[in-house]
Amino acid sequence: MPPTPPTGLFIVFDGSEGSGKTTQVARLRQRLESLGQSVLLVRDPGTTRIGEQIRAILLNPDHDEMAMRCEMLLYMAARAQMMSESILPALAEGKTVISDRFVSSTLAYQLSGDGLTADDIRTVANIAIKNRWPDLTLILDMPVESSMARVRRAKDRIEQRPMDYHEQVRRNYLSQAAADPRQYKIVNANRDIDAVHEDIWSAVRPLLKQG
Ligand code: TMP
Repeated sequence: MPPTPPTGLFIVFDGSEGSGKTTQVARLRQRLESLGQSVLLVRDPGTTRIGEQIRAILLNPDHDEMAMRCEMLLYMAARAQMMSESILPALAEGKTVISDRFVSSTLAYQLSGDGLTADDIRTVANIAIKNRWPDLTLILDMPVESSMARVRRAKDRIEQRPMDYHEQVRRNYLSQAAADPRQYKIVNANRDIDAVHEDIWSAVRPLLKQG
């Protein structure tokens, strides 16, 4: 039998804006690199030249006529490009990929918009990501009031939506994680940076290849 090709680990950080994803992504990257791992960081939507242009269309507050199905498909289009150009090649080289957001965001933010079901979103996602789902999705959870209060810059088109919407987004994250405890880990992000990082590390460490 031919040897199994090397494949890297694929980790996603997700959660509401202001939940500290960027800080925790940087901490995990540092720790993995200190162990000699090669790490690729990506952000969804974005990362690629095409993906960053789609991101600008998605987040522009002037685009208030955007239909929910267009919104969902644009997130998936940006992701398809990032998958093909960045994530799949890195995983094939055995790198660890850390993505700031992924399909789990679409399953939180676009779910139920214009009747979209989780099955609809997963079906399109399978096409966009060529069935390569993350090995672990970390949901950084905290009360919406606290996380939104941390967003100091001008709010993007999605962030400008009402608090009720963001409360529903949080519930959608918690329920997708509860339905799939092997792939998801909920982390209480309403604590100091070190405590949050240690929880993340205890979820990631068992997935690392020995040696
Ligand atoms: P970011 O500022 O965390 O990079 O995310 C951009 C915005 O896009 C944020 O408000 C969340 C939203 N979003 C969705 O609505 N659906 C998605 O699938 C993703 C990836 C992000």
